[in-house]
Amino acid sequence: MKILVTGMCGYIGSHTAVELLEKGYEVIGLDNFSNSKKEVLEKIKKITNKAFKFYEGDMIDRNILETIFKENDIKAVIDFAAYKSVGESVQKPLEYYINNVSSVLNLLSVMKENDIKTIVFSSSATVYGNPEEVPIKETSKIGGTTNPYGTSKLFVEKILEDLYKSDDTWNICILRYFNPIGAHKSGLIGEEPNGIPANLVPYIAKVAKGKLKSLNVFGNDYDTKDGTGVRDYIHVVDLAVGHVKAIEKLEKDKKGLHIYNLGTGTGYSVLEIIKTFEKVNNIKVPYNIVERRSGDIDSCYSDPEKAKKELNFKAKYTLEDMLKDAWNYEKNN
Ligand code: NAD
Ligand code: UD1
Repeated sequence: MKILVTGMCGYIGSHTAVELLEKGYEVIGLDNFSNSKKEVLEKIKKITNKAFKFYEGDMIDRNILETIFKENDIKAVIDFAAYKSVGESVQKPLEYYINNVSSVLNLLSVMKENDIKTIVFSSSATVYGNPEEVPIKETSKIGGTTNPYGTSKLFVEKILEDLYKSDDTWNICILRYFNPIGAHKSGLIGEEPNGIPANLVPYIAKVAKGKLKSLNVFGNDYDTKDGTGVRDYIHVVDLAVGHVKAIEKLEKDKKGLHIYNLGTGTGYSVLEIIKTFEKVNNIKVPYNIVERRSGDIDSCYSDPEKAKKELNFKAKYTLEDMLKDAWNYEKNN
């Protein structure tokens, strides 16, 4: 079965391409390298020893999408292509809405023209805003996003719902990721943030490597076990496997609109992450407690039961695995 993977060279796309290829799917990649490097293509080949087709192009360009569908018998799409920096989205809302919403409209309309209606979409726990309850269920209230990035995910979810309402032969899976971290065991692919990382684990890895002096822990007065923010960290390889499970479900069901949380169901605090990173990697991570970061929330973790029941998905990697693999990638790159 041929699957178009948009944003294939990025962090989650590259790990998902590996899992798909290893499961025997035929992968057709698309990326414009706005946030990734061409070398990733060779690395995916090296890990899997499998060939795949790849198009360099921008999803905002309808022509490239039309060409891809004309030249390949694509049966399903996994759509990762988007910008993902929360801070940058506040500075550049138009760029974010164009890239994260208009490009999906292009994709969906070209899919419709070609009568291909099976899609897995990368959404985020950010759509729950400041959650009313934890653990967060798929039925928990969504909305209240505080930045254009989060709102772009909310808009696309709404577009997919409207599309399905208009034509229930669409076969859609919306995956709401919690906090993906870690990297492939090989140390060949992983997260490559531009400039100074905004997210916790990539920042810790740079501090451990000596590239940044110390970590700023954003607040220790939250209503959590030790006062620091609690999140649901999931190994990126588990997340990638979740996409294969989603494809398997769509292949079986033929139509429907499904929404799943992809997380582990366990929340860890910032201090727990620092301590575990230090312990498993035997390296010091100097840190200072500073003011809260604006827009942050106390706790965010998933109820993973629906994905377990309906997708047969359960994250298998531990926090120790995630932090070892994150450090392994940082050391190698
Ligand atoms: P990433 O930036 O590493 O990967 C995205 C890839 O898409 C990059 O290779 C980039 O070059 C490409 N791309 C962007 N716009 C494109 C366009 N118009 N045309 C073609 N290619 C384009 O990000 P990621 O962490 O792999 O995230 C993948 C998806 O998952 C995104 O939609 C993101 O919003 C979503 N998501 C990520 C996280 C996270 O923490 N990483 C959490 C929740 C949701
Ligand atoms: C961030 C994004 C969110 C995205 C999610 C998954 C923001 C505001 N939100 O969420 O949209 O879906 O990543 O990738 O960026 N922390 C520190 N010091 C740091 C960095 C982080 O103490 O240098 C703390 C934060 O306050 C938080 C935790 O670490 O408590 C995790 O932060 P981060 O990795 O940025 O993820 P989220 O804030 O959950």
